[in-house]
Amino acid sequence: MKRARITGTGSYVPVKTLTNADLEKTLDTTEEWIQTRTGIRERRIAAEGELTSDLATKAAERALEMAGVAAEEIDYLVVGTITGDYPWPATACVVQKNLKAMNAAAFDVSAACSGFVYALDAAVKQLEVGSAKKALVIGAEVLSRHIDWEDRNTCVLFGDGAGAVVLEAQDGENGILSSHLHADGSYLELLYQPGFSTRYPASEEGLRDRLQYLKMQGNEVFKVAVRCLTEVALEALEANGLEAKDVDLFIPHQANRRILEATAKRVGFNEDQVFINVDRYGNTSGATIPIALDEANRAGRVKEGDLLLFDAFGGGFTWGAVLLRW
Ligand code: UT7
Repeated sequence: MKRARITGTGSYVPVKTLTNADLEKTLDTTEEWIQTRTGIRERRIAAEGELTSDLATKAAERALEMAGVAAEEIDYLVVGTITGDYPWPATACVVQKNLKAMNAAAFDVSAACSGFVYALDAAVKQLEVGSAKKALVIGAEVLSRHIDWEDRNTCVLFGDGAGAVVLEAQDGENGILSSHLHADGSYLELLYQPGFSTRYPASEEGLRDRLQYLKMQGNEVFKVAVRCLTEVALEALEANGLEAKDVDLFIPHQANRRILEATAKRVGFNEDQVFINVDRYGNTSGATIPIALDEANRAGRVKEGDLLLFDAFGGGFTWGAVLLRW
């Protein structure tokens, strides 16, 4: 069986930075509250007219360039997103058109903040069985248009951005070792966007009730997130006969510094093993892990043979971990 190996990474975040001090001017909040409760200092916000597909395309171009792969060589293109350009068709089709990746199958995965690991798993399986040879997997979000800027409980947490990886089917020991995905739909209403779709079609009442925006019960999500992130990280290590000390870089979903530090501690990682950039981008949902991976890669923090662990949790609830040898 071939292994799926990441041969290129790329990311893109919008130019506009929104700081905690900026939020203090429009909301009943303080810089200090946001910093101590979340670890977030600033986040990026897409410009007017800037689309999820625009961010995804720029991240993908950088990943393709690093891999030395032409867009037309890609035969499988998946975008993990919950903030696509349209309800349908898939943002992956827009990205395919932008890149001229005309030989690729293209679709989106809707798994909220776990979107990238779910999308990665789908592509890896295709490469392993030989159905595809070169895949592009992207996590991209413009959450700023789906959050209620009057709701201090949620709007301070999120930001926009995209990250991408090129995967190639190769012989040898390096590449994705295993992935472990889970979901529990009974938690749906703790973190979701009610409208507008089949359940709540667009209506005046819906707009009045602000159903077009993300709703979250933060402290409930917090508790389940730490438990699930911890359990699935341990599951991935155990499945490969490995321990926390064997991991060179742990890249958890960047939701909240307290969540990722609590998870890292429970799994048994020390500070040096954990990659954190939530302070600069906030929670970019399905984009956090590929953005973090690209930053770590370009900063020289991953070397050939290193063991990496991705760990994600999001609405649904969905969660999952991916273990790989770089
Ligand atoms: O990818 C998964 C996506 N979601 C998440 O990861 C979110 C997970 N949850 C969290 O990150 C945290 O629960 C939050 C950061 C959202 C909140 O932190 P917390 O320590 O759980 O606070 P809390 O919800 O218990 O709220 C504490 C207080 C409340 O006031 P009262 O009721 O105690 O008077 C909130 O109204 O903090 C208040 N509050 C704020 N105050 C100032 C909530 N948001 C703000 C704010 N500024 N922005």
